[in-house]
Amino acid sequence: MEHSTHDHAQHGHGHGHADDGQADVLDLDAEVLADHLASVVARLPLRPGPAEIVDLGAGTGTGTLALLDHFPDAHVTAVDASAAHLQRLVGKADRAGVGDRVRTVEADLDAAWPDLGPADLVWASASLHHVADPDLVLRRLRGVLAPGGLLAVVELAGMPRFLPDDAPAGRLEARLHAAVDRRMAEHMPHRGADWGVKLADAGYTLEDRHTLAIDEQRPGDDAVRRYATLVVRGMRDAFADDLPAEDLAALDELLDDPGPEGLARRDDLVVRTERTLWAARP
Ligand SMILES: C[S@@+](CC[C@H](N)C(=O)[O-])C[C@H]1O[C@@H](n2cnc3c(N)ncnc32)[C@H](O)[C@@H]1O
Repeated sequence: MEHSTHDHAQHGHGHGHADDGQADVLDLDAEVLADHLASVVARLPLRPGPAEIVDLGAGTGTGTLALLDHFPDAHVTAVDASAAHLQRLVGKADRAGVGDRVRTVEADLDAAWPDLGPADLVWASASLHHVADPDLVLRRLRGVLAPGGLLAVVELAGMPRFLPDDAPAGRLEARLHAAVDRRMAEHMPHRGADWGVKLADAGYTLEDRHTLAIDEQRPGDDAVRRYATLVVRGMRDAFADDLPAEDLAALDELLDDPGPEGLARRDDLVVRTERTLWAARP
């Protein structure tokens, strides 16, 4: 998912050389937002269910596993530049007993285009803003889709936020996100793009556009605590140069696990994020 931490990790270190920390962030995102993801999959305008699915920029398998779960007759081709992510994805699929319905393709979508399709559904979640030329990828995907096939693009507004707006820590988190947004605007021009416009320009007809606004209190949820800690630590480390010393000191208190302000123990954590789905056919 787009994700400032993911974004930075991926763009800082190049495609396909993601570290385990990034994979852990993706896995925790899947765990914390599982029900919301399932609701996005469930609203895809697909009757009957798809037989062949391509998960483009599949990462550690968040979408792949949700799709296999919702469409029990489907096979998924999971495409990603990161061999480590795909390896994790296969392990998860095997443990879930659906490994025989998954094929992986390790490919950098900015390089030679892999042999994909025909697919009844192409799912691209938080991956298109990473590629160098998403407009070209959208046009190429027209050739991957089977007649009547659906392209589902899911993108996020940014990394989730975890602290209450009205607390000093929430205002600190907002300044951290603002610093990240400023820097990402320079490095990742397609982050936050209007994918409806891009899809129309690439010759697709939009069938659904839906924004899921998530704003939940999750006190005592350990996955949320771990997710918040990883995200805030990743952003703090990656963007330390952009932050004043007093904010860095306050962030370190949040990241001090046993400390009274520590994200690892707080009971006031929330999950605030937005995911938008665009579903379109050529
Ligand atoms: C933010 S993650 C999203 C993963 C997954 N779709 C999800 O929803 O959790 C973006 C993924 O795109 C992959 N990616 C980025 N640039 C890529 C490229 N040029 N070719 C192939 N995969 C790429 C990354 O390796 C990463 O797994």
